[in-house]
Amino acid sequence: MNPFKLLLCTFFSVLVAGISVPDRTTDSTSLGRRQATLGFASSKWIWTTNTAANQAHAFRKDFTPPLGKSLIAAEVIIAGVNHLTFWVNGEIIGSTVTQAWAGRFCVDLDPSFNVFAVNASSTNTNGAFMATILLTYSDGTTDTLVSDSSWLSNGNAVPDGFAEQSFDDTTWVPSTVRATYDESGTPYVTPLIPANTPTLSFADVWWIWTDVLSSTGTVPKSTRVFRRTWTPPAGGEPSSADIIITADNEYTLYVNGFEIGSGTNWKVAGHYTVNFAPGTTEILVAVTANNLATSVAGVLMVMEVNMLPGGRNNCTAGVYGVTDGQWRSTLDGIPDGWQLPGFDDSTWPFVVEEGFYPNASPWASSVSIAAPSPPVNAF
Ligand SMILES: *[C@@H]1O[C@H](CO)[C@@H](O)[C@H](O)[C@H]1NC(C)=O
Ligand SMILES: *[C@@H]1O[C@H](CO)[C@@H](O)[C@H](O)[C@H]1NC(C)=O
Repeated sequence: MNPFKLLLCTFFSVLVAGISVPDRTTDSTSLGRRQATLGFASSKWIWTTNTAANQAHAFRKDFTPPLGKSLIAAEVIIAGVNHLTFWVNGEIIGSTVTQAWAGRFCVDLDPSFNVFAVNASSTNTNGAFMATILLTYSDGTTDTLVSDSSWLSNGNAVPDGFAEQSFDDTTWVPSTVRATYDESGTPYVTPLIPANTPTLSFADVWWIWTDVLSSTGTVPKSTRVFRRTWTPPAGGEPSSADIIITADNEYTLYVNGFEIGSGTNWKVAGHYTVNFAPGTTEILVAVTANNLATSVAGVLMVMEVNMLPGGRNNCTAGVYGVTDGQWRSTLDGIPDGWQLPGFDDSTWPFVVEEGFYPNASPWASSVSIAAPSPPVNAF
């Protein structure tokens, strides 16, 4: 293990032992969003008995409604330690990358039998995920499914077609409950839920940079550009995004090619609201960051995207985007049009995850968040 990896692991261990994210399952109606009631209070963190790191697992929850009831749609919140993909009836619905940030998905259901499925893996031995599924019937009544031992798992490799309605899971075994949603003394935090969260926070998010040279994270005086594109969950059309961002030392933020704002003091993150054009199918966040002297450098961002109401349930999906190892950057100058959606960044290397806020040195918990700027249109 190189020294920098070791440093990352140390950050992570400190983080999982020490962090506690408050439960935020009540909505702030002042934000003008729908009153959201989905929470994790009855859900369990579940996994299989095989807790080896980097082992992929498959999970299924088969559901048949009570006699005489016909299903319409589901609202789903789900989060995992730390990589998961959520499926319904064999289709990928969406994915999440850290336990601190839940995905909120809306799916239309078949009237009778439906299969909710997850494939997940963890980069450490704390692998677990947690879900709450609100089912709506054609008569307007609802039922709630939560992650618990009634979800079936297979314990090792993910078989082809595991999420299909026709897949035979009769040899699968009950999942293992690793913790209740807010059990103290466990490594699990209560995830933030899109559309339930009145304020964004940087907790559990990575500082990133391109060219980390040493275990101290010192990099040359440099200007670097960073890009990451998100595709909204199936059927979801982005309505707006709330973004908090800072960089050591300076940043300029672009969304879908439009300049949104900039900042020159890493201790005060900018807070932006961006409206999307009707029909938006991708969200590109692009950032220029200046490191003004040979020293540590980093970019830290959290974005909450809320979708237009959609589906048979008029449901509002939401997802988070954060700075993580899926961003790309380049060491070869700054090409024209690098911040535009059409630019091909596929040859740019992935960034380095330097450590989690608020544990990553030297920034620690020193970043405050500015008052929100007036909303701007990314079109
Ligand atoms: C789940 O399966 C999808 C599709 O095969 C794959 O792209 C993804 O990486 C898998 N995710 C995990 C966490 O295993
Ligand atoms: C869907 O929700 C939006 C926003 O709350 C509301 O304006 C609209 O009337 C709803 N549509 C239906 C079909 O319920």
